[in-house]
Amino acid sequence: MDRVKFNDALEMSRLVYGMWRLGDDADTSVDHIRNKISACLDQGITTMDQADIYGGYEAEEILGTALTPELRNQIEIVTKCDIVAPAGRYAGAKVKHYDTSRAHILSSVDHSLRLMKIDHIDLLLIHRPDPLMDHHETGSALDEVVASGKVRAVGVSNFRPWDWELLQSGMKTQLVTNQIEISLLHHTPFTNGDIAFHQKNGQPPMAWSPLGGGALFDTKLSGLHGALQNIATEHDVEIAAVAIAWLLAHPARILPVLGTNNLDRIARIGDAAKIQIDRETWFDLYTHALGHEVA
Ligand SMILES: NC(=O)c1ccc[n+]([C@@H]2O[C@H](COP(=O)([O-])OP(=O)(O)OC[C@H]3O[C@@H](n4cnc5c(N)ncnc54)[C@H](OP(=O)(O)O)[C@@H]3O)[C@@H](O)[C@H]2O)c1
Repeated sequence: MDRVKFNDALEMSRLVYGMWRLGDDADTSVDHIRNKISACLDQGITTMDQADIYGGYEAEEILGTALTPELRNQIEIVTKCDIVAPAGRYAGAKVKHYDTSRAHILSSVDHSLRLMKIDHIDLLLIHRPDPLMDHHETGSALDEVVASGKVRAVGVSNFRPWDWELLQSGMKTQLVTNQIEISLLHHTPFTNGDIAFHQKNGQPPMAWSPLGGGALFDTKLSGLHGALQNIATEHDVEIAAVAIAWLLAHPARILPVLGTNNLDRIARIGDAAKIQIDRETWFDLYTHALGHEVA
């Protein structure tokens, strides 16, 4: 498994396992969570993607209950903060909102550390751009959590280039990545400047819902589905592997974050790294995704 080095304190596996749906699984037992992590580790997938809000603010605790010191030492933990929804510990919130204040970031980091029973977060992301963000306050809070050793590296999610530049201008620590939605069903980042911005700056982006949250398997997408299936058959893999390989082929060094809860599918995520998508094949899939040939 290819690895991506973000800075001296952080290296992640190229494929990342996402834990948004962890609490939706019929089985959230300690053994089952450990089996999922082991299935990832068997393929060299060492990076787990969390957020404070996942599972109604409960997914971090589900992970924490399953983590042994030995398992923790083999993985990198990404988590996020700033979404405040009226659920769990924020049940009293009057309206769903974002909070990038120093107080919220510091308290959210402490909650995440306590719930996951860990002494540091490998990568902390600001989950969504906050229209009320004071970049000096947010930036210095992020500097502070890094300086304290509670967080190894910081980044953002769902930021546009201007949001990134605003926050970066208020802090000393270098933001390392932006986790955005990228897939064959959400390909605008390839042309709207998002990926170009990070590629130019040498910051590999993370791709959430790289299989369109499962929508990619809808056979009503007959052209795209058929094209994926043909390549999958040729390489003796599943179409999920082809769709992920399509992202891996891009020179921006995208890190797909996969969210399946199915143990057999987890065990096959690594198949994506075994296929090479050449230029014509890339454009063939892109053409089907666009619904027309490129100009
Ligand atoms: N930063 C953000 O704002 C943000 C937003 C959304 C997600 N995320 C992150 O991205 C991760 C992935 O998101 P996602 O779960 O939407 O990603 P995904 O990998 O695109 O979709 C996973 C979904 O597809 C389904 N699926 C159906 N057939 C499948 C197959 N053959 N192979 C694999 N999956 C199949 C899965 O169901 P089964 O479980 O039954 O396999 C699961 O419900 C999340 O866990 C989270 O960490 C971040």
